[in-house]
Amino acid sequence: MSPLSKPRLATRALQHIILLALLLPCLPQPLPAPSPSPTPAQPSLPLSPFNERLDAAYIAFQAWKHVITEDPKNLTADWCGPFVCNYTGVFCAAAPDDPCILTVAGVDLNHGRIAGVLTDHLGLLADLAVLHLNSNRFHGTLPTSMQHMRLLFELDVSNNLLSGAFPSFLTSLPSLKYLDLRFNDFDGELPDAVFGRQLSLDALFANDNRFNVSLASGSLTNSTASVIVLANTKLAGCLPPSIGDMADTLVELILLNTSISSCIPPEIGKLKKLKVLDLSHNEFAGELPESIGDMESLEVINVGYNMLSGAVPETICLLPNLKNLTVVGNYFCEEPVSCLHVPRRDDRMNCIPDWPHQRSHEQCIAFEHRPPVHCGADGCILPPP
Ligand SMILES: *[C@@H]1O[C@H](CO)[C@@H](O)[C@H](O)[C@H]1NC(C)=O
Ligand SMILES: *[C@@H]1O[C@H](CO)[C@@H](O)[C@H](O)[C@H]1NC(C)=O
Ligand SMILES: *[C@@H]1O[C@H](CO)[C@@H](O)[C@H](O)[C@H]1NC(C)=O
Ligand SMILES: *[C@@H]1O[C@H](CO)[C@@H](O)[C@H](O)[C@H]1NC(C)=O
Ligand SMILES: *[C@@H]1O[C@H](CO)[C@@H](O)[C@H](O)[C@H]1NC(C)=O
Ligand SMILES: *[C@@H]1O[C@H](CO)[C@@H](O)[C@H](O)[C@H]1NC(C)=O
Repeated sequence: MSPLSKPRLATRALQHIILLALLLPCLPQPLPAPSPSPTPAQPSLPLSPFNERLDAAYIAFQAWKHVITEDPKNLTADWCGPFVCNYTGVFCAAAPDDPCILTVAGVDLNHGRIAGVLTDHLGLLADLAVLHLNSNRFHGTLPTSMQHMRLLFELDVSNNLLSGAFPSFLTSLPSLKYLDLRFNDFDGELPDAVFGRQLSLDALFANDNRFNVSLASGSLTNSTASVIVLANTKLAGCLPPSIGDMADTLVELILLNTSISSCIPPEIGKLKKLKVLDLSHNEFAGELPESIGDMESLEVINVGYNMLSGAVPETICLLPNLKNLTVVGNYFCEEPVSCLHVPRRDDRMNCIPDWPHQRSHEQCIAFEHRPPVHCGADGCILPPP
């Protein structure tokens, strides 16, 4: 999976909500033992399209429409009149706290190319569970009024023009599981709480902003997310041995082009659920730990364009699910024959003798004359003695 792909979570949750909308409205509960005098089945009338929550939503959508400057697909053209549930991109469902009240549960304007800002009035959509604004041209930042969205489960604002610091209120949204901020212009530090157990995200996409992340605090490896994508972000510090702490949850880790200069600690081998590991385009040095061969779920490993050396451990190439082994652009001097059986393999630009597409003899000799890399207990490359 590339940093651009995304789990199916998003659509699944939306289907779930739509399903809820269809099923929930005051349906008679499925039998708690037949009672002698059965209460008459509640009529499954459609929910009233008017209530205070929808009135508030009406204000929110009208205020939002007012600050939309371009809408090339006319998605908001039908945002007129008080019945917001019929607006394009708006999904209503029975309120979780009151199944007899209709409320706005989802907004999906993906790929709308809409220009404008996210008005403060959005906070009026207090029951929103899903907000998908992927591939628009919203600028500014996320309004702090969104802190009222206590049910917000999926937030996807990827591929917009949003900027400023990480919106800190996001870390106190109690229901947030899927956070996608990638391809915007946010900057500054990603707060430790993004990875914290209180927020407990399932998926974090923060790549392609101008964020920086400190590995020194150890907060990243505290994460219980299954997907962490921080590509093209600046990570300061070394990959710590505590990376193994994410063993129970981590399935995909993308740290492509994050300026890390570090060793790869052997504890990485504890990540038995990890399927995709991308550490490419960094300054990882030293050897690839044999323990990667313990990562029994691993399907794709990309350590291309680093400073790794030594032998590619045979244990990796014997992994049963490995489909794609990318070690291009390092200084490996040995690759076991078992690696030739990996379906997709890129081992160009290394120093493997008598092997096609390797570095020049001069480059490899020059590398050999460098002092050997020693790794510290904290995962850092030790300075030469
Ligand atoms: C949107 O509406 C404008 C004005 O009504 C119209 O000219 C344009 O063709 C519409 N665009 C689309 C994609 O429907
Ligand atoms: C919403 O749209 C449906 C189908 O187009 C229509 O039957 C219904 O009257 C509309 N509801 C309101 C309140 O406008
Ligand atoms: C992160 O970015 C902010 C602002 O851009 C800067 O002040 C801070 O020093 C950076 N931190 C690191 C660890 O690079
Ligand atoms: C890691 O999580 C534990 C338990 O929730 C917490 O006590 C600790 O402060 C966290 N560490 C960091 C660096 O965030
Ligand atoms: C790495 O990220 C920087 C910005 O942080 C970007 O300019 C550069 O093109 C990226 N390099 C690769 C190989 O993706
Ligand atoms: C194998 O992985 C590399 C790096 O992640 C990727 O560029 C390449 O497209 C993958 N190959 C296939 C066939 O999936």
